[in-house]
Amino acid sequence: MIPALSASPTAPAPIDRDRSFPAGQMPRLLAVANQKGGVGKTTTAVNLATALAAVGKRVLLVDLDPQGNASTGLGVKRSDIRKSAYDLLFEEGLNAAELAVATKVPGLYVVPSSMHLAGAEIELVTAKRREYRLREALRRPLPFDYVITDCPPSLSLVTLNALVAVDAIVVPLQCEFYALEGLSHLVKTIDRVRQHFNPKLDIHGVLLTMYDPRNRLSGAVADDVREYFGEKVYQTVIPRNVRLSEAPSYGLPAIVYDMKCPGAQAYIRLAGEIIRREKKLQSDLAALQNDSRVQNQDKKVSV
Ligand SMILES: Nc1ncnc2c1ncn2[C@@H]1O[C@H](COP(=O)(O)OP(=O)(O)O)[C@@H](O)[C@H]1O
Ligand SMILES: [Mg+2]
Repeated sequence: MIPALSASPTAPAPIDRDRSFPAGQMPRLLAVANQKGGVGKTTTAVNLATALAAVGKRVLLVDLDPQGNASTGLGVKRSDIRKSAYDLLFEEGLNAAELAVATKVPGLYVVPSSMHLAGAEIELVTAKRREYRLREALRRPLPFDYVITDCPPSLSLVTLNALVAVDAIVVPLQCEFYALEGLSHLVKTIDRVRQHFNPKLDIHGVLLTMYDPRNRLSGAVADDVREYFGEKVYQTVIPRNVRLSEAPSYGLPAIVYDMKCPGAQAYIRLAGEIIRREKKLQSDLAALQNDSRVQNQDKKVSV
């Protein structure tokens, strides 16, 4: 069994207190975003981060939602929080690794949320370089392979900060009648962010969540979403599974609470799919760079 997953709610894995982080590198930055509430953003951020940590990646989850569900879902108590994602936005020069709190999952750290984030929206309006605050904090060598940002349910300045900071977005969509409603607004926002702030921002993938095979509507919505987004939709579909909603009350990711439940298994498959997409992206990029090198050499020869 993967050591990180050997814990149970009664015998949690020891907290990884190893603060001797390895040398920094540029992490891959992902945001889990959809302005709708209750579509599975936090559940996805927590379990995806856990699954990536379980296969040996060093992962930092940044909880940008003032409700702090990702933080409590990872067992971080409000009383233990000294500095939070709020400080990451407002305190210049802060290193995200300094704020990282260890979780019960080895290799998984969290920059917790705080209630101050609720006021961040108003404070950001007049802040210097207000769209770039998170980008400046996260786009630097860090001792993590992945930084995953859990966004609040709005297209606010805080969410905008996440979209400006990251390489790519994971968009969870609940398999229900109104799934596609409001999505054009998100797509337009992503286009605007590309034009003005972050030209390389990509939709990493669209994730169908809370899928119920007994409900015909779930299947119809999944078909619609695949027609609209094509290959961007992950093969992995997250089923509706009560274990996913029970786990946070134990302060544990579902993957640790009950690794065998269908929801946890789906998130483990999702992490595999994401890693495969990442590898393909990297090899495509390398091929592209190689092509342009060959073309440049050809030019030199023909001169
Ligand atoms: N696949 C699922 N099956 C059952 N319950 C789920 C599933 N995904 C999320 N939930 C529950 O639905 C609610 C909303 O999910 P959450 O991840 O908090 O959404 P968001 O962050 O988008 O608001 C939570 O109570 C969560 O436990
Ligand atoms: Mg949430």
